[in-house]
Amino acid sequence: MKVIIKSSEHDCAQEAFSLFQNAYQNGAKHFGLATGTTPLGLYELIRNSNMDFSDCISINLDEYVGLSRDNAHSYHHYMKEQLFAVKPFKHSFLPNGLATDEQGEIDAYEQLLSTYPIDFQILGLGSNAHIGFNEPGTPFTQTTHKVKLADATIRANSRFFENEQEVPQYAFSMGLASIMKAKEIVLLAFGRNKAQAVADLVQGPVTVDVPASILQTHPNVTIIIDEQAASLLH
Ligand code: GLP
Repeated sequence: MKVIIKSSEHDCAQEAFSLFQNAYQNGAKHFGLATGTTPLGLYELIRNSNMDFSDCISINLDEYVGLSRDNAHSYHHYMKEQLFAVKPFKHSFLPNGLATDEQGEIDAYEQLLSTYPIDFQILGLGSNAHIGFNEPGTPFTQTTHKVKLADATIRANSRFFENEQEVPQYAFSMGLASIMKAKEIVLLAFGRNKAQAVADLVQGPVTVDVPASILQTHPNVTIIIDEQAASLLH
């Protein structure tokens, strides 16, 4: 696991963009994408680049259960706004939050990952060290699944909604085992409220209590963090 510490979020986004571009130039075609505040700078750099994704596939980590793709809080909507409207892919996949056959949706999503194995995966980090929506306690063998969101996650994500009651309680998420199949993984984290999760992920034991700690066992992971997120590393 390589750890890169930069003085600003902008420099972190630049660093992640360089790795993304290298992967693209080296033939990566299947990109695993994340949502949240953290990758916004990276998506801006990609939007302003001359990269063309018309022969590429994107597969997102997760989506809220119960939100339609047009809902302004859905991750479908986020991805359209932040990337796809400017940089369309040949196919872009996110779980369907309104799927009535939930198990069918889950199985189909996991099948997608076999059809289009991810070359380059972008990750953010929850303040409780979740990746995707894999909350503490999720088995490392977990594949795509329906998740009951942790209270801490609902609280953290309520900043995007009118109030906490409006935050969906469930999400579909790629599992930790699904994420670990990616050839290359780049995780970004910024700010003091991610410092404990970063310290646990980088220097703590590999334990299901810290979902991101599984990344210690992946052969090609780069963690890109700002100084505040790095403040508890020794
Ligand atoms: C959400 C997403 C994660 C994301 C995390 C951090 O719950 N499911 O994929 O990495 O929260 O979000 P943020 O980047 O806004 O801090």
